[in-house]
Amino acid sequence: MKARVHPLRRPLRGQAVRVPGDKSISHRALLFSALAEGESRIAGLAPGGDVRSSARCLAQLGVPLLRGDGTPWAAPPGAGREGFSPPARPAGSPALPERDPDMGPDDAVVHGVGMRGLRAPVSDLDCGNSGTTLRLLCGILAGAEVPATLVGDASLSRRPMERVAAPLRQLGARVRTGASGRPPVTIEPGGRIRAGAIASEVASAQVKSAVLLAGLFAEGETTFTEPARSRDHTERLLRQMGVKVATRGTTVAVRGPARLSPIALEVPGDLSSAAFLLAAALISPEGSSIALPHVGVNPTRAGFLDALTHLGARIQLDLKREAQAGPGGEPVGDLSATAQRLRGAELDGDLVLRAIDEVPILAVLGALAGGTTVIRGAAELRVKESDRLAQMAQGLRAMGAQVEELSDGLRIAGAGGGRPLHGAEIDSAHDHRIALAFTVAALAADSPTVISGAEWADVSFPGFFELLRSLGAEVELLP
Ligand code: S3P
Repeated sequence: MKARVHPLRRPLRGQAVRVPGDKSISHRALLFSALAEGESRIAGLAPGGDVRSSARCLAQLGVPLLRGDGTPWAAPPGAGREGFSPPARPAGSPALPERDPDMGPDDAVVHGVGMRGLRAPVSDLDCGNSGTTLRLLCGILAGAEVPATLVGDASLSRRPMERVAAPLRQLGARVRTGASGRPPVTIEPGGRIRAGAIASEVASAQVKSAVLLAGLFAEGETTFTEPARSRDHTERLLRQMGVKVATRGTTVAVRGPARLSPIALEVPGDLSSAAFLLAAALISPEGSSIALPHVGVNPTRAGFLDALTHLGARIQLDLKREAQAGPGGEPVGDLSATAQRLRGAELDGDLVLRAIDEVPILAVLGALAGGTTVIRGAAELRVKESDRLAQMAQGLRAMGAQVEELSDGLRIAGAGGGRPLHGAEIDSAHDHRIALAFTVAALAADSPTVISGAEWADVSFPGFFELLRSLGAEVELLP
């Protein structure tokens, strides 16, 4: 599918615009509640393809889970768009939970099977485009001693998996990765997790989560130390489910064997999705304004808001009390933005780690700001769904921006004022955040932009183009 995005000629306006549920929290809510003892209810899950991948894999592992409205989980993009065939459930899996008439399509009822209740899948686990699904499941399956092979789509099949496999091996798992340490990843029989201390060279919430999840199954304390503190959704949710999690600097410790209590959880809106709408409001004609209620603003994740301050933007954040009572709560706020002039900024270090998924849209803002923007400390972007540094540099240059690609970032000569970007042909490179970032850039260009592979936006933000249209943008969807 292609999206032809026209320059925005009038203000973009939207009040009370709900963004999709947080993707990181949604994966964890599904995966962890599968391991709990009893029924969990999760409201407002991320509706995109990635979280469907997690749901589908859990069904393959014999976990009874149902969308709130009783409809099945559709196949994720990359796992075949031709239609949904329910994943084969291992023989003897427990029955599906009862439907809940009060729950909707983005809600789920999960009948947790307990720490030892997962069943070996009868076929490969297809994680689609989702690195979080694949990496977190590796930790769970290694801990639960469930042999399985995890595969992904073309993009996921290029991503590094030794960063998860190696520490799990260190703890006693038997894990095999494919050529150059990429998927498929196989959890082989015969391994057993022993508690231990892992030091990781990369700051990664996915690697941290895989190690901590495996550690939940072992006797004793498992620790994970990373060079800087990555997002802490796993720690918060595990605490909420009754696990003792200790944090000392950049080290996190869990003690096993653990039991998880079921949860009732409302997933906050995804700041990573909200970022595209906030950015769109900032760069739109005078009079634009967008308000987004109930967005997650966990500080280990909210570097985007700090980056906006550096770029000279004033965003309104009305912080609510912790969304959930207890130690596992995630901070939530209402966010709003209006059209503003931006200035170039130097973005680096901890801030960039806390905004790692927002670097593509920050690069777009840099191209539209007055002065130079330098983004560093973002080498991880080269191993995301695409090489995001290369894709952003190439696409922004095609739109007329002056961009230098650095080994770990971008230097962007922002033109400021007027309409410095030109319409261009952009390919999403099978990467949702590239499709979404260039859609926003296109709003500020001087002629239409055509984005091919626009359907990849559905991985995290289904309905994005329709939503933009409802806010006043002109976007045509072409086959
Ligand atoms: C995620 C962690 C980050 C992030 C990804 C989601 C998570 O990846 O980029 O989109 O939910 O744990 P890394 O763990 O590779 O840094």
